[in-house]
Amino acid sequence: MRKEKNWWKNSIIYEVYPKSFQDSNDDGIGDIPGIIARLDYLNYLGIDVIWLCPVYESPQVDNGYDISDYTKIFKPYGTMEDMEKLIHKSKNFGIEIIMDLVVNHTSNEHEWFRESKKNKSNKFRDFYIWREAVNGDVPNDLQSNFGGSAWKYDKTTDEFYLHFYSDKQPDLNWKNLKMRKEIWKIINFWIDKGISGFRMDVIDLIGKEPDKMIKENGPHLHEYLHEMYENTYGKYNLMTVGETWGASIEEGIHYSNPDCRELSMIFQFEHMQLDKISGKSRWDLKTLDLLELKEVFSKWQTGLFDKGWNSLFWNNHDLPRIVSRFGDDSTFRIESAKMLATLLYGMQGTPFIYQGEEIGMTNAHFDHLEDYVDVETQNIYKQRIAQGFSHENIINSFKKKARDNARTPMQWDSTLFSGFSNTDPWMKVNKNYQEINVENSLKDGDSIFYYYKKLIKLRKKNDVFIYGKYELMDKNNPFVYSYKRVYTHDSILVAANFTSKITTLDLVNEKAQEILISNYADSSYDLSNLTLRPYESIIFRIR
Ligand code: NOJ
Repeated sequence: MRKEKNWWKNSIIYEVYPKSFQDSNDDGIGDIPGIIARLDYLNYLGIDVIWLCPVYESPQVDNGYDISDYTKIFKPYGTMEDMEKLIHKSKNFGIEIIMDLVVNHTSNEHEWFRESKKNKSNKFRDFYIWREAVNGDVPNDLQSNFGGSAWKYDKTTDEFYLHFYSDKQPDLNWKNLKMRKEIWKIINFWIDKGISGFRMDVIDLIGKEPDKMIKENGPHLHEYLHEMYENTYGKYNLMTVGETWGASIEEGIHYSNPDCRELSMIFQFEHMQLDKISGKSRWDLKTLDLLELKEVFSKWQTGLFDKGWNSLFWNNHDLPRIVSRFGDDSTFRIESAKMLATLLYGMQGTPFIYQGEEIGMTNAHFDHLEDYVDVETQNIYKQRIAQGFSHENIINSFKKKARDNARTPMQWDSTLFSGFSNTDPWMKVNKNYQEINVENSLKDGDSIFYYYKKLIKLRKKNDVFIYGKYELMDKNNPFVYSYKRVYTHDSILVAANFTSKITTLDLVNEKAQEILISNYADSSYDLSNLTLRPYESIIFRIR
């Protein structure tokens, strides 16, 4: 673990989804030795930390977010020795590992749950949330995030248990101190192995009050986090990031202000929900309005300044590929991928790269329902059909938003199965792998890969990126997003054209000193009459 305090503020995190990263033994499933084999690639990109999605023993109903043993490794991924080797070898590259901590729920095959369901007096009964039927039906109307009721009937004891995800992911009962102590043990077990922190899965749900219909941000949530901090990672110099979908600024400060002693930072998703119809599900699509994006980012950039800490991300394993979403994944794929990175990397916070983002991987856009292997997608399909949506409408929304768009195997080269494996992978490779892959990116000095590498270097060299105060400019411009960052004597200005059209803007009061980075070779310096080509984006140092 690193020595400097707040080392994670100027770190770059790379998310690895093990199942799809690199298969080393040709069973079609990615594995830990595969990740080890790619450490030099990650080191070359310039990252500091790997966020490793769950590698624990699991029946894989939700690709490892259903854990049956927190201290064992899922066999197809390797052994505990492999895991120790990964931690050790990463350190030799100066790369830290953070683990995914999934403790809102377990798998139904976890020993705690198998015991819990046996009888009402079992000592693990209260590790989960059981309720009697109400008028012969489910206890209440709470819904699962994967569609349908959040209650599942179990005939052994004639009661229902709570599950906010699939019915094979029963929710843990955080009111139970005995259960919480078991979680602390797991956290300390992994800290002792030498990892440097945790990404905490749907952590805003642990304070749930199912009888009051409260899912997120329950009354004891912060108490549980604080207590966990004191009993585990708070004693060390670790980084923690909580997944909190609907956090407000106030919540964000509470989670990430150091005085609260809870987390280093959070993932909040407000900017990732702007392309859905407000108040509806994410499958009800709407085009992104740049003015709304500016408003949301600006709110978080200023709201957490000096009070908390932001994470910066466009992608993860639950989100479609950003270049297909807010960029243009055909004509201007390269320009728009670079533009999106520029816009984000100019802001304050810790950047996260999701595997393949650095080479501009696109959505899979699968046409057939069978190609979507995700449990969520399959459940949602049934739900939307029952709600009266047409097959075409549903597939169209899946092509844009399904999680599997981001989960196709990593595209390493143009050989069959994209260098991910020598055998048919667990899910289909994206059709465009012969064009979009790591090998091609490394050969082309102008690739998205080298652009990310340059952005990373730039952030490391200039403190203004880490500490500078954010100021939105030209607020009502619907095509261009521009903002300044100011820190002591250094100021930068970021301008990003969000469209495929040429546009000009007037920042007459600003004077450019140098161009720090641009996605076009010959960008203009004239800020009083700045012409930006399709998706052109520039970071200036200004006087
Ligand atoms: C969030 C994870 O990122 C997602 O992949 C998973 O399905 C749910 N939490 C449930 O663990």
